[in-house]
Amino acid sequence: MIDVRQVDKCDETQVRDWWQASHDGAVAGRPYDTYTPWELARQAAATDNPDWDLVFVAAYDGGRVVGAGVTNMPLSDNTDHAYLEVYVPEPERRRGVGTAVLAAVEEVATSGGRNVLVAEAIAPVGGTSPGEPFAARHSYALANREGFKVLDLPQYAGSWGALDEHVAARIGDYRVVEWTNRVPDELVDGVCGALNRFIGMIPTGDLEMGDLNYTPERIRRREERAARLGTTGLAGAALSADGSLAGYHDVFVDAARTSQANIGITMVLPEHRGHSLGLAMKLATHRSLRARFPDCQIVLTGNADVNEHMNAVNGQLGYRLVEQILEFQKVL
Ligand SMILES: CC(C)(COP(=O)(O)OP(=O)(O)OC[C@H]1O[C@@H](n2cnc3c(N)ncnc32)[C@H](O)[C@@H]1OP(=O)(O)O)[C@@H](O)C(=O)NCCC(=O)NCCS
Repeated sequence: MIDVRQVDKCDETQVRDWWQASHDGAVAGRPYDTYTPWELARQAAATDNPDWDLVFVAAYDGGRVVGAGVTNMPLSDNTDHAYLEVYVPEPERRRGVGTAVLAAVEEVATSGGRNVLVAEAIAPVGGTSPGEPFAARHSYALANREGFKVLDLPQYAGSWGALDEHVAARIGDYRVVEWTNRVPDELVDGVCGALNRFIGMIPTGDLEMGDLNYTPERIRRREERAARLGTTGLAGAALSADGSLAGYHDVFVDAARTSQANIGITMVLPEHRGHSLGLAMKLATHRSLRARFPDCQIVLTGNADVNEHMNAVNGQLGYRLVEQILEFQKVL
């Protein structure tokens, strides 16, 4: 008998059991373990996030946790959306655990007034994964495809000299500025403006996504929370000759696992494209990453298969496709 219950985030034993099942289900059969490390998950569960409501559920078979899920509900934009996660460790699959966990995370979402439900599955390049038939079985439609990419940082960091020449020939009057963790006061309005245009600028397939809604206060809240969790943000902006923001990019490293870095966002505003600003910002942050975290082995990113320019920049830096990210959607 499978019993799915909400996890008490204040109970570390419950959170640990939930994390273990999530981790084991998420990484099964995959080439890299990129799942949130325990130490970070533990701290994140105990640290309030005013911009996201996260509800964890665990499936019990007797006293054993056999599956886990999350309902991620944005609070500051897209408040009709819920991002659902369902994980079942391999030995527990094909006996209805996933279905029971999905029903529970959906119930949390609908009780929270959400009617656009989005879930993700990872598949090998050119192959399939259990998430696909599972999603289809539960009436989720494939809405977008992204490539999951990895850069072997130490291997490529020394080979970017030719890219500097390419940038120098095209950058004109633009310049790149960098910072760590805190967006400089004079750029924070520009960064919010850029982030709030981001969704409209990237290919999202059939996903129903509304614009983001960043304010300087939200940026500062996010920075404070990252500091509490030990996350370092290395960021850069491309500025035009008059000092206005033309592009923005960030990459994050968690103290709990400095061997990996995650790309957040890379964007160049449409009116400033064609000057290699995306490449210039990425070169800057990747070099800072190499200098600040010499043990960092891989950088992870995901972008739509059809995002031609971003794929070209990533290819130049040495990123390689390792898996497919499939995004499913059910609109109630
Ligand atoms: C997808 C996942 C959650 C399924 O968990 P599960 O406990 O095996 O799911 P269920 O037993 O409830 O399966 C329900 C139905 O989904 C379909 N299904 C699930 N896994 C399948 C597989 N490997 N091949 C074909 N169909 C599958 C079947 O229709 C199945 O019904 P059936 O067993 O009566 O044929 C699990 O494989 C997993 O954790 N994968 C990694 C994370 C992931 O992809 N999450 C889902 C994102 S949408």
